[in-house]
Amino acid sequence: MAPEYYSPTLIDHFEHPRNAGAMEDADAEAYVVNPVCGDSLRLFLKIEDDRVQRASFLTSGCPASIATSSAATEMLAGRSLEDAEALTRDDYAEAVGGLPKSKVHCSVLAASAVRQAIGEWRKQRAAV
Ligand code: FES
Repeated sequence: MAPEYYSPTLIDHFEHPRNAGAMEDADAEAYVVNPVCGDSLRLFLKIEDDRVQRASFLTSGCPASIATSSAATEMLAGRSLEDAEALTRDDYAEAVGGLPKSKVHCSVLAASAVRQAIGEWRKQRAAV
């Protein structure tokens, strides 16, 4: 069942976001806007050997979107691209201790950005 309030894990990610900031040497990037509220997320990935080495983010969003983006950067590090793409918004929501019902849409930003960044990276590689 969805929690009614933000969990301590979510609050910790919000107050101390992991991997916040742009990445100078990123191999892939995505910018996504949440159609529900207009909040946005820019995600950066460093990719080597078909694996996400590092991830970072910039966001203009609510506490839930900041926390799920922060958790996402931790979850992505070291994952194969396929595993990264398979992560769902529920996985990101679960990583921050669940989201209140009215905030479930906030985890969509991270999930969309990951798929978009990896999709663009694949397209660029295919074009070379
Ligand atoms: Fe917009 Fe959370 S209210 S992403």
